[in-house]
Amino acid sequence: MLDHHHVPQVDLNFMNRDCEETLGLCNRLEALLEGDAPMDHIDAIDGDFSALLTLHHKHFARENREMEKYGFPAYGLHLAEHCHLLEDMRVELEHWRARRDLVRLKDYLLMEFPHWLMNHLVQMDTVSATYVNRVRHCDLDQGEGFKG
Ligand SMILES: [Fe+2]
Repeated sequence: MLDHHHVPQVDLNFMNRDCEETLGLCNRLEALLEGDAPMDHIDAIDGDFSALLTLHHKHFARENREMEKYGFPAYGLHLAEHCHLLEDMRVELEHWRARRDLVRLKDYLLMEFPHWLMNHLVQMDTVSATYVNRVRHCDLDQGEGFKG
């Protein structure tokens, strides 16, 4: 199980909230996939996996907007990782719906995706959130007439 309290928090609250929602979906999927009869819960698995993809479309769109708005220097690199993840997840969901390959689904949802998520959080989101948060506060300070 992935515990929100053991996942690094970043400097933008919406990213932490989305991450918590992601972990909730991952934990529900893990319980379904590791349970006694996962193939008896195909509708629930389909629903949660679809929700995970939809959540990431929305989450990445907002994250991308913030990075672009505040001129994050490595925006292109971070954007490419988001696009790659969305495409991978879309392919895995389509494959699952077409083939119902439980071994492949478990490998993706219980191993590959959580591994990607932790790496992405540490290597990309933490840096982007720190940068956006600082630049945003700098904008606010200047708007209110503060210096330095
Ligand atoms: Fe990201």
